[in-house]
Amino acid sequence: MKIIQVNNQEEGGKQAFNLIKQGMETGAKVLGLATGSTPITLYKEMVQSDLDFSEMVAVNLDEYVGLAGDNEQSYRYFMNHQLFNHKPFKASYVPDGTEEDAEKECARYDQIIEENPIDIQILGIGTNGHIGFNEPGTPFDSLTRKVGLTPSTIEANKRFFASVEDVPTEAYSMGIGSILKAKEIILIAYGENKAEAIYNMIEKEMSEDCPASALQQHDNVTVIVDQAASAKLS
Ligand code: F6R
Repeated sequence: MKIIQVNNQEEGGKQAFNLIKQGMETGAKVLGLATGSTPITLYKEMVQSDLDFSEMVAVNLDEYVGLAGDNEQSYRYFMNHQLFNHKPFKASYVPDGTEEDAEKECARYDQIIEENPIDIQILGIGTNGHIGFNEPGTPFDSLTRKVGLTPSTIEANKRFFASVEDVPTEAYSMGIGSILKAKEIILIAYGENKAEAIYNMIEKEMSEDCPASALQQHDNVTVIVDQAASAKLS
């Protein structure tokens, strides 16, 4: 894994943006995208840039089960407001949280990924090492499926909701196997609460206990970290 240390989130956003720009110059057509607070500065860079994304396809990692795209807490709403409303893409895909038939929705999403192989996948990381909503214990060959959120993830995500009871307990998420199919992966992490996960991902032996450690088997991963998130690295 290649590690890029940055001083702050603005610099991290610029670094990630430059990697996307370079990728597009060399033919990348499909971006795998994440939500959460981490990629916000990257999306700001993309919105402020003069890059044209109208021939690009975006495929998002996950969505809460039960939330429609016009719900302000949904990941579809987040993506529209952070990026797609400002920079139109040829197509943007986010799992449909309102689809009650999980098997059908996950098969549909896997088909989308099959038809749009991801060139560059952007990832954040959970404090427990999750990527997407792939919590500890997720098999590394998993594809899109309905997952239960762990108490620590619900706790971490409650900041976006009125109360912890409002945080959905399930999500549709691309699997670790789906993520590993991306040609290039850029994982971004800021802050001391990510330091343990970043250490487990990079320096500990690969294990389902830290889902992000699966990235050790991928040959094109760049990790963008600030000082606090990289504090435990040797
Ligand atoms: C979001 C996602 C999650 C987040 C992770 C970090 O689509 O898949 O894995 O990347 O929970 O979230 P933040 O960036 O809010 O710390």
